[in-house]
Amino acid sequence: MLAQAPKPTVRADARALPFPDESFGAVTALWMLYHLPDPESAVAEARRLLRPGGLFVASTNSRHDSPELRHLYSIGQISFDAEIAPEMVGRHFDKVAVHSWDAPLVHLPDRNAVRDYLVGRFMPRDKAESAAETVETPLDVTKRGVLVFARRLP
Ligand SMILES: C[S@@+](CC[C@H](N)C(=O)[O-])C[C@H]1O[C@@H](n2cnc3c(N)ncnc32)[C@H](O)[C@@H]1O
Repeated sequence: MLAQAPKPTVRADARALPFPDESFGAVTALWMLYHLPDPESAVAEARRLLRPGGLFVASTNSRHDSPELRHLYSIGQISFDAEIAPEMVGRHFDKVAVHSWDAPLVHLPDRNAVRDYLVGRFMPRDKAESAAETVETPLDVTKRGVLVFARRLP
């Protein structure tokens, strides 16, 4: 991803970024905070990096995402989902707005597509292959999630 991104790029932990306070006008954390056991430390770090008036944007899935396939996989409790994201971000920012979605946004035309989708939900490929055999296709999957916009006020 970094090789293909516009330069300059830096690879670093979102909880301890190698930049001085108030370095940026905007910081995003798109579909990544749920990888952290302690996402709130990365939210606090984003605030540290923002200039007064700066914008923070985070996105994540709902715990009720993909209901048509949810009986096939379990990803357990995640550390940053749509249900807790606005409150967690709000503990560090002054003004929070939420844009959410709940619609059949992903079309899976056949069982290979279902298998690949399940692999993307952390299911081992062999299990995804056999699970996909139980699904009627084509299938439209309901996507649920949020974008959280937050400002660091001047
Ligand atoms: C699902 S990808 C999302 C990538 C990109 N933001 C996008 O929306 O296409 C999750 C990203 O989180 C990054 N990541 C995981 N743990 C991280 C951490 N502690 N600090 C910074 N990035 C991390 C991974 O390297 C990966 O690029």
